[in-house]
Amino acid sequence: MKIGLAIENKTNLKLFVEEFGLHYDIVLLTENNILNDNFDLIIVDRLNFDYYKSKIIEAKTDQKPSILPVLLIVEQKYRKRLKSEIFDYIEDIIWIPVYKDEIIARVQNMLTIRNLSKKQKKVTKSLNEDKIKLNQELKIKNKELKKRIVEAIHLLVKASEFKDVETSEHIKRVGKYARLVANIHERDSNFSINIFYAAPMHDIGKIGIPESILLKNGKLTNSEFKKIKEHPSIGHKILQEGNTEVMKMGTNIALHHHEYYDGSGYPEGLSGKDISLEGRIMTICDVYDALRSERPYKKPYSHDKAIDIILNGDERTSPDQFDPNLLDILKKNHKEFDNIYKKSII
Ligand SMILES: [Fe+2]
Ligand SMILES: [Fe+2]
Repeated sequence: MKIGLAIENKTNLKLFVEEFGLHYDIVLLTENNILNDNFDLIIVDRLNFDYYKSKIIEAKTDQKPSILPVLLIVEQKYRKRLKSEIFDYIEDIIWIPVYKDEIIARVQNMLTIRNLSKKQKKVTKSLNEDKIKLNQELKIKNKELKKRIVEAIHLLVKASEFKDVETSEHIKRVGKYARLVANIHERDSNFSINIFYAAPMHDIGKIGIPESILLKNGKLTNSEFKKIKEHPSIGHKILQEGNTEVMKMGTNIALHHHEYYDGSGYPEGLSGKDISLEGRIMTICDVYDALRSERPYKKPYSHDKAIDIILNGDERTSPDQFDPNLLDILKKNHKEFDNIYKKSII
């Protein structure tokens, strides 16, 4: 171990060198070596302490969390004048005249403190390394879990595609529109990510509707239309067992995506904020994309026509059906909707 000495009194200096020189590496303190020599103990008298104080503080800070002990040697006559703040910078004091037995005991105490603090540093370092490793493993596990959830959603949506007249492009686009609106409305990235994955499940309940109705070319009878209107409740039943945030959001979206802000929608005729935010977002995105897409009863509309119908209404659609805040978002960001649509059909 290395001890740095700065003692003016020759007799005292000799005593320390003779006593510890054989067992330890003794080095006289200079302004340069305090910071560079990685001392295990500094023994310094009062005048040298004042002279080297700033460097000693710097060396102690550098070695944290290990303790670099400082042993101060002071004449008895200064006992009363010594300020208590001195103990912020030193670990112990030896009063002059110094006694051999006393310095041996004090120096050994200081070196024990040094050794223990070094061991502590090692333990802290390895604990920190374990913590980093655990965090990394947790991140990988979370990623895997998210992957599995997304995979389950894709499989569910795929199953519904077998029966549905809606295309897989429509399903992907609604997720993108919903994420765009959620980003502007919520500014909560978790909400936006969840709605991106949850939106494609909006029509999952169509799995429970007979194909003869879903794929019928002509006009639906009243009872057939009634049957189709069951798909939000069926979707809700399928998804409500899910425990993840995405699945909970998907459950709300499935149940609420045909509810209208003015209460004219189905299945429950909910209105205003009784409809979940994700449901309200889904409705506006679904209607926009339906207007852009070809349906058995209509040709695809241009972007301008689709926006005009949503903002100003036509014989089937009224702006009152939508959350006014979301209408405003659509109005200000309608070009982004068009971009999402155009990118998907290239
Ligand atoms: Fe639907
Ligand atoms: Fe849809």
